[in-house]
Amino acid sequence: MNAFTYRNGTMHAENVSLQTIAQQVSTPCYVYSKHSILDCFNDYHSALGDYPGLICYAVKANSNLAVLNLLAKAGAGFDIVSGGELERVLAAGGQADRIIFSGVGKTRSEMQRALEVGIACFNIESIAEIDRLAEVAAEMGVVAPISLRVNPDVDAKTHPYISTGLKENKFGIDITQAEDAYRKAQRLDSLAIKGIDCHIGSQLTDVTPLLAACDRLIALYDQLRDIGISIEHLDLGGGIGIIYNDESLPSIADYLAEVKKRIGDRPLSLMLEPGRSIVGNAGVLVTQVEYLKQTPNKNFAVIDAAMNDYIRPALYSAWQHIKPVSQQSSAKALHWDFVGPICESGDFIGRDRDIAIQEGDLIAVMSTGAYGFTMSSNYNTRPRAAEVMVDGDQYYIVRQRESFADLIKGEALLP
Ligand code: LLP
Repeated sequence: MNAFTYRNGTMHAENVSLQTIAQQVSTPCYVYSKHSILDCFNDYHSALGDYPGLICYAVKANSNLAVLNLLAKAGAGFDIVSGGELERVLAAGGQADRIIFSGVGKTRSEMQRALEVGIACFNIESIAEIDRLAEVAAEMGVVAPISLRVNPDVDAKTHPYISTGLKENKFGIDITQAEDAYRKAQRLDSLAIKGIDCHIGSQLTDVTPLLAACDRLIALYDQLRDIGISIEHLDLGGGIGIIYNDESLPSIADYLAEVKKRIGDRPLSLMLEPGRSIVGNAGVLVTQVEYLKQTPNKNFAVIDAAMNDYIRPALYSAWQHIKPVSQQSSAKALHWDFVGPICESGDFIGRDRDIAIQEGDLIAVMSTGAYGFTMSSNYNTRPRAAEVMVDGDQYYIVRQRESFADLIKGEALLP
């Protein structure tokens, strides 16, 4: 579903005008569509169908409590990477036994808390982590459910910063060391082997590398079965990419059908950890044009959102559509660079866009529901944006804009 459409020349989120939201909540603000999030989740949920398994939403993509609560109620599990994300999921009503814990640097206290609440699985990323988790679980007198994240050495063909399945990346256990690692884990009484997982990268628009990784994991499953180590689930990591511009995407149903075919009659359940594809196209960043600045070389539109609000263009040269909230501008279209107020030349949201705007106009930065707010910061002492969720004709502020008091909370002067 495309939740963001023009009605009488004004962009709406579901049935609510973005103009109305901006007037009430001010800008910059992130606006999410509840139904779009649910539709995207259901694409995975229904593609899995009756097959045993769980869709574990990757919390890092958008960790707003309202988003997590919505997905928990829809039957999602959660993929977390920190103690903070664990507490968020619990605070949002997520079930501990549907949580899997990924990440290369889990601390002892994060492990303790996850064991205390009884999460479904730890996705272990190194031999050293096997030892540490075994120790922590033994101290607590419990058994930790584990999966080993293997690095299948597959080129995901995505941006190098978000490619994670090559042997030079920091993630996972090299597939050539995996058998030894499983043997080691099996000898430790405080660990229970449950699965094999991998995650080769994000914003993948072709399933070929995902299926290549799947093949390698299945080959490892067979290898382990032959030495008496049984595995219950296969976890293929993050989801497929989204349309930012003109990407063509594989269907989730076809992808999962291929995976199920490859699993065949092996008694394996299936987990996935999609993030971006559930929330990415379900959110926009609404911002206002503060100044228009024309120079002999460039036309700059200085907007009130900056790289602290949305860092993907600065960090990955990411591109997404920038659209006027109202199509009725009397200005004529010019070539604009959309830049923020931060003191860095890398502070841009989009460059070289032909769009009719004037001072005071609202614009919508599309496809910013994933890795948008969650990657925002307070750089230049800027409060983080408000977040709004639209549900049909209603909208709700699901995170207040930060105040100055929030910004200096915990700071102290010298005595
Ligand atoms: N599972 C693991 C272990 C991950 O590391 C990630 C993403 C996911 C699942 C979710 O992947 P997705 O379905 O969203 O592709 N900040 C970057 C993306 C970083 C992704 C990191 N890991 C961006 O804005 O493009």
